[in-house]
Amino acid sequence: MNLLIKNIKQLVTVSTKGKPYKSGTEMRDLGIIENAAVMIQDGLFSWIGPSTKLSQEPDDSIDTIDASNLIALPGFVDSHTHTVFAGSRENEFALRTEGKSYQEIAVSGGGILSTVSATRETSKKELKKLASRHLDTMLKQGTTTVEIKSGYGLNEDAEIKMLYIINELGDEGLMNIVPTFLGAHAIPEEFKEDPAGYVDLICKRLLPYVANHKLAKFCDAFCESGYFSVEQCRIIFETAKSLGFGIKIHADQLSQIGASKLAAEMGAISADHLEKIDDAGISALKQSGTIAVILPGTSFFLNCEYAPARKIIDSGIPLAIASNFNPGSCMSHSMPLMMTIACTQMSLTPEEAICAATINGAAALGLSNTLGSIEVGKQADIVLFNVPNYRYLMYHYGIDHVAKLIKHGTYLDF
Ligand code: NIG
Repeated sequence: MNLLIKNIKQLVTVSTKGKPYKSGTEMRDLGIIENAAVMIQDGLFSWIGPSTKLSQEPDDSIDTIDASNLIALPGFVDSHTHTVFAGSRENEFALRTEGKSYQEIAVSGGGILSTVSATRETSKKELKKLASRHLDTMLKQGTTTVEIKSGYGLNEDAEIKMLYIINELGDEGLMNIVPTFLGAHAIPEEFKEDPAGYVDLICKRLLPYVANHKLAKFCDAFCESGYFSVEQCRIIFETAKSLGFGIKIHADQLSQIGASKLAAEMGAISADHLEKIDDAGISALKQSGTIAVILPGTSFFLNCEYAPARKIIDSGIPLAIASNFNPGSCMSHSMPLMMTIACTQMSLTPEEAICAATINGAAALGLSNTLGSIEVGKQADIVLFNVPNYRYLMYHYGIDHVAKLIKHGTYLDF
């Protein structure tokens, strides 16, 4: 199947010229081609360049899209989400408007554990239907690859149920889906008096099962006061590494307990959140080559501190933006909205925001050799936006600008 997209007003390639990600000032270089054309063959980009250099007019065997007045970007890569869940928590949203904090709500019976109860009680079929609806909306907003974590099961049956759903959604749907095991998301009620017993369950039963059945690529943990200590996370990650998982970590979100340093020690592919990262954490991530994943929608939604993204980029650490879509701390999966917040609240330039939402997101999932930029040989995930130029995408925020979307070389007619 061949496809030609021609007359693209502005093609934002985010080309890395062979590097796995962009860092420092490279994040401002988007590899833009004005009035461009793109050829796609068997789902991959086969030719990219100015429309004027197209060698010949296409024959009838090639489907053609005329993208006059549209701009093109690689599909967004959302590298941190909790898309499979049941129930909703707008009651907590209302409590926060009255001054209650995320932590106060969690200790008084809300938070992660309330979604765990709802998720445990909901059938696999229903959970899958709910998640699938969210994925449809994400795709329509330009996200073509998404990571999804377990972590609302917190027992053997429900964690495994979640992971099967995530894998099936990936096998059956249009998006690239990367499954992550997050059994260490909170201590479940039944282990309240025995957290070490829960860590034991994760290491001795859950992780081996997940590894044997190839249900997840990464193992994540919420390394935070009141959740999992650095020592408990170290035990979980050491087991996970011995079973072949890559490591991700919820680090420095609500307090500073040394989670980024643990990420570096473990050789984590990414450290996510980082609202409370300190200078020692920044230099540890820099040395280990760990990608910093910021979640601007979460600080916005919880009305709390933003991660020091400017400092992180300026120190040379590759930075990615993700949505953290979940029912508690960010009930939005719009990547353009996350990019706008990153620009207005965290001082990213529009160029850095695009880079962080595409190639660096792919790098945070270990997929940047095939996804995240428009380069010959890569998977053809390309989004055409009805905007005058790429900066307009973040400037005119809160609405959907997607005009057309091509996923793995196939034109999707929404
Ligand atoms: O990344 N911090 C932990 N997990 C989510 C919140 C999940 C929830 O509140 O249900 C986060 O913000």
